[in-house]
Amino acid sequence: MQEKYIDEARQGEVMELPINFGDEQKRKLYIESYGCAMNFSDTEIVASIMSGNNFTTTRNVEEADVVFLNTCAIRDNAEQRVWGRLRELKLVKKNNPDLIVGVLGCMAERLKTSLLESEQLVDLVVGPDAYRDLPNLINKVDSGQKAVNVLLSREETYADISPVRLSTNGISAFISIMRGCDNMCSFCVVPFTRGRERSRDFDSIVNEARLLFEDGYREVTLLGQNVDSYKYTNESNGEFCNFANLLEKVALVNPLLRIRFSTSHPKDITDEVLHTIVKYENICNYIHLPVQSGNSRILKLMNRTYTREWYIDSINAIRKIVPGCGISSDVISGFCSETEEEHKDTLSIMQYSQYDYSYTFKYSERPGTLAARNYKDDIPEEIKNRRLSEIIMLQRELSHQSNKRDEGKTFRVLVEAVSKKSTDDMCGRNDQNKMIVFPKQNAKKGDYVYVKVHGCTSATLLGEIVEKGS
Ligand code: SAH
Ligand code: SF4
Ligand code: F3S
Repeated sequence: MQEKYIDEARQGEVMELPINFGDEQKRKLYIESYGCAMNFSDTEIVASIMSGNNFTTTRNVEEADVVFLNTCAIRDNAEQRVWGRLRELKLVKKNNPDLIVGVLGCMAERLKTSLLESEQLVDLVVGPDAYRDLPNLINKVDSGQKAVNVLLSREETYADISPVRLSTNGISAFISIMRGCDNMCSFCVVPFTRGRERSRDFDSIVNEARLLFEDGYREVTLLGQNVDSYKYTNESNGEFCNFANLLEKVALVNPLLRIRFSTSHPKDITDEVLHTIVKYENICNYIHLPVQSGNSRILKLMNRTYTREWYIDSINAIRKIVPGCGISSDVISGFCSETEEEHKDTLSIMQYSQYDYSYTFKYSERPGTLAARNYKDDIPEEIKNRRLSEIIMLQRELSHQSNKRDEGKTFRVLVEAVSKKSTDDMCGRNDQNKMIVFPKQNAKKGDYVYVKVHGCTSATLLGEIVEKGS
């Protein structure tokens, strides 16, 4: 997920299950995940539900009895990838006519039964709130019918299901703290594919963090579309918990467990959250605060409910309260009616914010959204492309400056893995979420070490261990 500066930076990654539940008698499931971290986290819930129902996993699609694609609908090209993959699976089905192909996730929710109709590629369609029904739906397909459940829920958080940890380094894990989104940004399909916002019981979140720590994990990322609007009241004792309170509770699990979170929304992030970050050393000084556009008229059309000035105030508050905080963003080029001047406002707010990193996208109209219904997608493709490349080039420059500023500094790093380029080196992230590569000395995965940075490449800092940490 670290590839930088490309349109599909966070979307469309394919994940296979690296684990096997064992038993040869069981049916074999193969899953690929596309889209955001929420989807990857859901795949772990799906794996858990299926493993309780006589399924084992396979990394080899050729030997699978069931294939699931956990899909993303955020932009048209995310869906096109899935259609391409479904056509490939049709060929696999030729050799194995009993193969069951299921589409899960956001594209399933968006397209519903129409997925069954086109090209006879799909047997099973399941939306993000219906995974508990998977065993029944598989039975239905076994009996020769097609099966669909795309009901959205106001309550489902899968709080009681222990995710099967997949594709993990054994050090960092995702924890979903809420589902859905109530924001209705005009370009965005997520409120339609994931339903209403609901928060998960804080006790189950803290418990999951504790179990992960006991299993050797040293970093958790709390996930939600808008984590700042997390709120949960414990029905038995009336205890209320907002996002700042939740951060505090998870931070108290153990000082050696690092806490990250994503995504923060500029309209909702509070000083209380910023002060909580500062209060606990193990809450990372890193905030993903998507701007989308730097122009107030466009932000209004996007229904982001903040202005350029409000966003700048949020950046100022972060810089003041959490000095040295890493900040990243999402940026969309060529939204409906965006003028050249308005595009320049996006470049200038990026410059002002000094992002360490940005995920950059070309506007892609999504059927049914407010923007699709109310505005014309009128910026020609070549202008969207040119604006996007200006955004990418500026971000490259900002990231380079940010890396240069880090030279000579010493950071506490959580060792994650052996470096891909050399087995003599290890790598890990600092608090600000930057990857640092360093000669391994005696460092092991899961250790904290202090690394002095002496150089950088375009995407990574290079350094040397100066002290073993704790
Ligand atoms: N909840 C998060 C974002 C979720 S989607 C937030 O509010 O910031 C991730 C990113 O995809 C968005 O931030 C936006 O930049 C991008 N995105 C969403 N819909 C899009 C569309 N229709 N076209 C292009 N980019 C889009
Ligand atoms: Fe989409 Fe906006 Fe919700 Fe993010 S906050 S998921 S961009 S509607
Ligand atoms: Fe994609 Fe759904 Fe995530 S649309 S970005 S997988 S919430």
